[in-house]
Amino acid sequence: MSETLHDAAKGARKFAHAPYSNFHVGAAIRAASGKVYTGANVENASYPEGWCAETSAIAAMIMAGETKITEVCVVGAGKQLVAPCGGCRQRLAEFSAADTPVHVGDETRIRRSFTISELLPEAFILDTERE
Ligand code: THU
Repeated sequence: MSETLHDAAKGARKFAHAPYSNFHVGAAIRAASGKVYTGANVENASYPEGWCAETSAIAAMIMAGETKITEVCVVGAGKQLVAPCGGCRQRLAEFSAADTPVHVGDETRIRRSFTISELLPEAFILDTERE
């Protein structure tokens, strides 16, 4: 993976609004144009209303007019791997190919790399060609 995607995710993490969990996450998405879109988690006093870094990055990509994800990097701290949550796996899959790489790291390095189909096997994709 190019270092820039990891750097972009680290940069995004600085914008996390996480006063409740104090768990700061950054995400960076490379889209088909080659451009990189970033996001951070945005928590809310009404806890379930917060959302993840990946979701912010997807929104930034969509608002730039892009719909194809070619690579993802998520950065968070701690002993546990900060792999995307179930909801974000589904949201990423919507715009990814089965073999789209998802890198998971901390501030210093990429710790693991997966494909989206490893993270979300047998993903639900709506067949819009149906009658
Ligand atoms: N979080 C993310 O932003 N991305 C992930 O992949 C895992 C979890 C956020 C949600 C919440 O704001 C905080 O981390 C603690 O769960």
